[in-house]
Formats: sequence, structure tokens, C-alpha cells
Amino acid sequence: MTETVTSPPPGSEDGGRLLREWLARNRRENRVLWDETTRSCQVFGFAETQQMLKDPRTFSSDFGRLVPPDAGAAQTTSDGRPVPNLLEGHLSVTDPPRHSKLRKLVGQALTPRAVLELEGKITEITAGLLDAMAGRNEMDMVTGFFNPLPVTVIAELLGVPAADHGMFRGWADALVSANHDAGAVDAERLHLPQDMAGLLLEMQDYILDHAAHRRREPSDDVLSRLVAAEVDGERLSETEVFTITLMLLLAGHISTTLLLGNSLICLDENPAALAALREDPSAVPGALEEVLRYSPPAPLAYRLTTRDTTLGGVDIPADVMVASWVLSANHDERQFTDPETFDITRSPNPHLSFGHGIHFCIGAPLGRMEARIALGMFLERCGELRFAEPPVPYTSPTVLGSKRMVLSSPLA
Ligand code: HEM
Repeated sequence: MTETVTSPPPGSEDGGRLLREWLARNRRENRVLWDETTRSCQVFGFAETQQMLKDPRTFSSDFGRLVPPDAGAAQTTSDGRPVPNLLEGHLSVTDPPRHSKLRKLVGQALTPRAVLELEGKITEITAGLLDAMAGRNEMDMVTGFFNPLPVTVIAELLGVPAADHGMFRGWADALVSANHDAGAVDAERLHLPQDMAGLLLEMQDYILDHAAHRRREPSDDVLSRLVAAEVDGERLSETEVFTITLMLLLAGHISTTLLLGNSLICLDENPAALAALREDPSAVPGALEEVLRYSPPAPLAYRLTTRDTTLGGVDIPADVMVASWVLSANHDERQFTDPETFDITRSPNPHLSFGHGIHFCIGAPLGRMEARIALGMFLERCGELRFAEPPVPYTSPTVLGSKRMVLSSPLA
């Protein structure tokens, strides 16, 4: 069966309004759309997205297959140092059996206990960031709160000393802007611009030095557990220790930053929900699940077909990219009652915003805890929610959320 995409997806410059309409139209007409011209596939339905995500044999995450072998490893800096291959050890782009092994190793480090133990620290970091903004007439919530919170939490989790948190935040900012700048990476060879490559090496030196220290003197942090973790007698290589750290930093902060921003937008657009949360703060976790459903920070999941297959009745050939719209799946009227209504009491709420299947977000308990503490404490101190100007959205289709959000409602 051959279908043609009538128009490309609109960007999110308007906060995603046009994109949502485009998705709703496509979802009504095609649950799955195969475009012969671009030889690519888009998925709009909930059941079809779920089916794709739970079948890694057919829908692979190993995008390394798209580039020549070892292309990523072949890069060197201007002074001849090899640049680490970022795909090595990156869970999101690894298939079983390697994925299962790596995931077990990371799981040994990112234990539920390690996450629970951070609760006090997250409360302390949140209070410090809110104190620093208190009384100001205008503040950018992204740079002042939503971004530094998760980055500092990851630094804490890894055991990076507090004195180096600023440096760590600088790296995170540079990586995020590189990630969302078109053309920042030479996609054919997976080569990074020289300044990014230099930054990565600087970061690698720091992390590996820190890891060597933890090997000699283990502590109770994730890095100590990463260097000690073992599956079937196998430990992580030095490069893997670094790329996993980098993955935790990248995956663990931008999504949480976006989720917090999206929460304020949803609450601003739904004053009754905001009033209900102020009345009953125990409703915050449910409200966050609804924000995740309504405005997922990662609106798209990509996979690569390994063989000819059929999804939602549509034939898809082997070796093509499938883009699955989580944003659309979360608004599928076949799965959710009144999907366009933002309902903080929605239960059950089986959104796909943390993924599904073997790649389900390993940091979900941490992300949920950070967001619960941050939103709860923010609401306690924010008298009235008022934007000084419309939030500035990211325009990349791979993220949904704001890069700037200035409030003009002073915090207590
Ligand atoms: C609340 C915010 C978060 C959201 C919305 C989110 C979303 C996601 C999604 C959708 C995936 C699956 C990607 C796919 O199937 O291709 C994922 C995977 C992942 N996330 Fe998160 N995430 C969040 C927070 C975190 C945090 C705090 C961490 C780490 C501390 C983290 C680490 C990871 C890792 C390592 C993976 C890869 C797992 C695998 O492939 O096995 N995430 N996340």
C-alpha cells in the first residue's frame, strides 16, 4: 500500500498549535503513513506506536547502521587526539543483546535507592534556586530554575564536587545548543565541529580522572557504581563510562527542563487546574502525568526497520526510518477519552512520554521526583502565574518545550 504525505509537519514556532492540528488530521486519515517519495514512514496512532516500540527486532534503535562502519570513531582533534565515539555505550541507540547488558550495568548504578536518597538534595537545590529568584520582578525560569535544577541533580548523582557544578552546567548548555542546531553535526560521518570535539575531550578528561579516583576510593555515587558494575564478568570500558555519563547528563536534563516549562504553560492555559493544585498539592504528581501526556518533551521516537514489515495495515520495507509521533499517540481518541481536554485527574493515564518496551526511560523515577518537588515548591512561592512575554519555544521537531520563559510574578 502506498500513501503520499501531503505536507511536511509544521515547526513548533507557535508552541505546537499548528503541529497538533496537522497530527490530528493525519491521525484521522492514516494511523501509519508510508511516503514512497522520501521512502520514510510516520506513525500517528497509539496502538501502532506502542507496537513499534515493543518490537526492537523489527524496529531497531541502532542508527549506527546508517553511517559507514567506525565513522564516529575515526574523528581526531586538530592536535591529533581521538574523539570518543558517542554511540558506544549509548543505550538509546543500541539494540539487544548489547542493550540488555548495558542497561543492566546502568541499572546497577542508577538504583531506586540512589534516586530516593536524592530527595533531600533536590529539595535543597530547588529551595536555593527559588531563593535566588525571590523578589525579582522578571525572571527567565529556564535559565534560573528549570535548566540548572536537573543539571545540578545529575552532577550530584554522579558525585561531581559542588565546586565544579558551574563547569558541568557550562558543558550541558553547550551540548544542548549543539544538539538542537541544524548542521552542528556532520551527519554522514558523525563528525562534530572542532570546538565541540574539544569540549568533549575536556569533559572526558574530567570524568575519567574522577572515575579513576572513584576506582581507588569508591564512594556512594553513580560513578563509583558505574566503574564497579559487572554483568557476566564484563565491566564497562573507559569510553563507555564516559559516554554513559554524557548520556545521563543529556537525557537526564533537557527532558526535565522541558517538562517543567510545559507544566507552567498547561497551568496557565487551564486556570481551574492551577487553582485545584493550589488547593490540593497532593494532586501535583497526577497533574505532571497529564502534562507529560498533553505536551511530551520528546514528541517523536525514531526507529529503523530491519526487515519488511506491516504496521497498522501499511507495508513498510526494510532499512527505512520510521518516525513515530508520541505527541499524536498521546492524543489518540481511540485510547484517551476527550484527549484535547487537559484533565489533571485523568486515570489511568497510559501516555507514552517515557517511551515503551526495552528503551523505557531508565530515569523516569528521577525525572518524576524532580518535577514533583520543583513544581510543588514553585507553586507554594508563586502568588500569581503571569508571563512577561510569550514563552519562546524550541523549533526543532524532536523537542517540545520552551528555551525561554520569562515570568513577571515575583516569588515569595
Ligand atoms: C521527566 C523527564 C524525562 C522524559 C520525558 C524522558 C523521556 C524519555 C524517553 C521518551 C525515552 C525513550 C526513548 C526511546 O524509546 O527512543 C527515554 C530514555 C532514556 N532516558 Fe529519559 N526522560 C526523562 C528523564 C530522564 C532522566 C532524569 C534521566 C537520567 C537520569 C533519563 C535517562 C534516560 C536514558 C538513559 C534513556 C535510554 C534508555 C534505554 O534506551 O534503555 N531520562 N527518556
